[in-house]
Amino acid sequence: MSVSVLNGPNLNLLGSRRPEVYGHATLADVEAMCRQQATALGLELHFAQTNHEGQLVDWVQEIGAAVAAGTSIGAVINPGAYAHTSVALRDAVEGARTPVVEVHISNVHARETFRHHSYLSPVTVGQIVGLGVLGYPLGIQALHQLSQPGSD
Ligand code: DQA
Repeated sequence: MSVSVLNGPNLNLLGSRRPEVYGHATLADVEAMCRQQATALGLELHFAQTNHEGQLVDWVQEIGAAVAAGTSIGAVINPGAYAHTSVALRDAVEGARTPVVEVHISNVHARETFRHHSYLSPVTVGQIVGLGVLGYPLGIQALHQLSQPGSD
């Protein structure tokens, strides 16, 4: 069984991009944290980052197929700025019927007004916002627990 972690635009620059907002951990550090969490839960980790909206849509569709086939429990997605702009990504998540936990490293609600709205949030199972990179392993843990029979 696998779990995916997808990262959107500019997250390849974690560690050097506005560390006062996003912290000092690099994307490689985040991947290592996620791998540790996934391994502890007996899950295979698929971890990826792209700056391209259509690539995220393709990946969400693939994860949807894997969830339908019973080989994936869903995805943790930090959509970056696409949270605030992308109807296409929202439609992909909605259409894929895939459990998604939306993660934002920073507290988007304490920042500019345009970051307060996410197109993705209504079609996700939940959001983890403002807890730094800790949000990623917490998201994996949540997906795992929600995938257990009788978890609701
Ligand atoms: C972000 C928040 C977004 O508003 C921003 O565009 C990002 C990163 C976060 O993780 O805090 O790229 O998703």
